[in-house]
Amino acid sequence: MTDATVRAKLLGLPGSLRSNSNSLAVLRGLQGALPADVGMDIRDLRLPLYDQDIDGPDAPAEVHAFRQAIAEADGVVIVTPEYNYGMPGVLKNALDWASRPYGKSALIGKPVLVVSNSPAFTGGVRAHQQVNDTLLAVSADLVSGPQVVIGTVGEKIKDGKLVDEAVLKFTLGMVDKLIAAAGK
Ligand SMILES: Cc1cc2nc3c(=O)[nH]c(=O)nc-3n(C[C@H](O)[C@H](O)[C@H](O)COP(=O)(O)O)c2cc1C
Repeated sequence: MTDATVRAKLLGLPGSLRSNSNSLAVLRGLQGALPADVGMDIRDLRLPLYDQDIDGPDAPAEVHAFRQAIAEADGVVIVTPEYNYGMPGVLKNALDWASRPYGKSALIGKPVLVVSNSPAFTGGVRAHQQVNDTLLAVSADLVSGPQVVIGTVGEKIKDGKLVDEAVLKFTLGMVDKLIAAAGK
């Protein structure tokens, strides 16, 4: 895809670091099912632990790169698992980095779609709510409407990708809303 043919550029963030992550598989499935003129880069959230002492102009290079990737995206898709009834620390840590500099966060006004998933039928809905609250605190432009909550996700993944047609269709409908929120 060349720049001239790209209508919207999305950033996919999995809330899990493990290589065989279901959250990553959901993003890969979405990535493969997007309209031809929409692209999505998937970015690993392996960042140092948030420390206000090292934040500022001299923040770690990977933090600058992460903030830059958000700034350059038309919209962000976060796919989170649930850990102990909440969002994983890895994701909260990344969102805390992204929330700064105060008043200048790349997330302010940024369209964001949240998707949760779990091998359990509950689909990570409690983590979903926590991610929403954090994004509201940061003044991101959270895509509203039906929440994308994927239960029994293991049955919907094949060869490292989400393949369930009904879930893909529903989620892509919300991705359309994300792209519309970006004015694309
Ligand atoms: C520390 C830990 C806590 C977990 N707590 C929950 C939980 O509260 N609710 C839930 O649905 N699944 C829970 N799980 C199971 C995860 O949903 C499951 O491991 C999932 O595959 C993790 O996401 P990933 O595949 O994207 O890495 C937990 C897993 C771990 C490792």
